[in-house]
Amino acid sequence: MSKLVIEGEHRLNGAVHIHGAKNSALPILAATFLAGESCEIENCPLLSDVHAAIKILEHLGCRVERDGHTVCINASQAQGYEVPDTLMREMRSSIVFLGAIAAKSGKAHLTFPGGCELGPRPIDLHLAALRQLGLHIDEEGGRLLCRVHDRLVGCPISLSFPSVGATENILLAAVTARGTTTIFNAAREPEIVDLCNFLTACGARIRGAGEGTIVIEGVDRLHGCRHRVIPDRIETATYMGAAAITGGSLLLKDIYPEHVQALIPVFEETGCQVTAWRDELLVNAPGRLRRIRTVRTLPYPGFPTDAQALIMALTCVAEGTSVFIETIFESRYKHVCELMRMGANIKVEGRVAVVEGVSTLSGTAVECTDLRGGAALVLAGLAAGGTTEITQLHHLERGYEAMAQTLAGVGAHILYDGADV
Ligand code: EPZ
Repeated sequence: MSKLVIEGEHRLNGAVHIHGAKNSALPILAATFLAGESCEIENCPLLSDVHAAIKILEHLGCRVERDGHTVCINASQAQGYEVPDTLMREMRSSIVFLGAIAAKSGKAHLTFPGGCELGPRPIDLHLAALRQLGLHIDEEGGRLLCRVHDRLVGCPISLSFPSVGATENILLAAVTARGTTTIFNAAREPEIVDLCNFLTACGARIRGAGEGTIVIEGVDRLHGCRHRVIPDRIETATYMGAAAITGGSLLLKDIYPEHVQALIPVFEETGCQVTAWRDELLVNAPGRLRRIRTVRTLPYPGFPTDAQALIMALTCVAEGTSVFIETIFESRYKHVCELMRMGANIKVEGRVAVVEGVSTLSGTAVECTDLRGGAALVLAGLAAGGTTEITQLHHLERGYEAMAQTLAGVGAHILYDGADV
């Protein structure tokens, strides 16, 4: 089994390039299925989740060519409508293909996406909204058998929660529906805006991207386009954390500072100095981090749930007590047990976690529990005394391209399967 071996207590210093955003690339890849011509997606990260999305597109009949971080998709001859369970289970967010497949092929046969380490991942909001647009969905034996009578029809849709995935599915179903769709209480994440920018470049007519209300005027067809995926704001947060927890200084390049505005005051509360320019951000860490009074995860533009585990790792070695309130997912503290194996002092009660900072963590063998929980263990290993061995790396490979190489490049002592990276 592959493992990362980190010798902790080395300050990181240098510059890090931030890759394209996983959570933007995935819905955009699904959206290329709707285009009648070839689409060129630039700055697409090399990740297992992206590879899974490409496998789904190929299964649906698309021609896909990849050249480094550029992926070309031609769906003009694609007529598929089935996604086998094996592919659905490879990636939780495969459900976002439903809207696009149904809109283009007039039917869709998928299985329920696997739950994941964050607890059950319901799709009730997705299905309710797509049914409002006219998609007939039969749920039988864990399968979703969907069909459209003639064409999807736009309508007003109110979301009880600003679900990112549900907003994406509605957008992909509505852009070629007949008439107008208005999404009330839509997700406002930057990845939604990026998806809308891609769809608009393909000829869609969308107003209000990034706001709580999005209006989509259905068009008959979408053409191709060239699009560059936005930088990954959670990868940005991860390497900000690497600078902070090692007492180092990192310059993050090719980023959008406005996408991490909710994170900057949190890092400043720990005593870090954060300076942002047009597409760069510099983090200088103090000798010892200070506690963070309260971290409450919220939909964008609030503090992102995907950064909760990352910031928790910092507070494990901060001076004082920090309180976390996870309002988005019901089970997003799986990393706590692993951090406690390293000597962290954390108490969890429901959605609240209380972290008493300790002077140092101790390296030991730990396992990634999920994508961001795994990243938190890497951060903890960078600060811990001794050596930390991290396994179950497939979780990390879903969302971080060349993480070990990147960290080694700025001074981390890190081996992958016992070899220099
Ligand atoms: C997206 O997941 C991201 N994934 C997640 O990032 C991110 O944590 C999440 O948005 C919140 O920002 C991708 O974009 C691929 P939601 P998604 O629908 O769309 C509940 C990572 O680490 N809900 O906004 O699944 C749901 O259970 C991943 O990169 C319903 O109840 O998030 C959760 O509690 C992890 N019914 C909450 O809403 C539904 O039909 C937020 O879910 C849909 C969601």
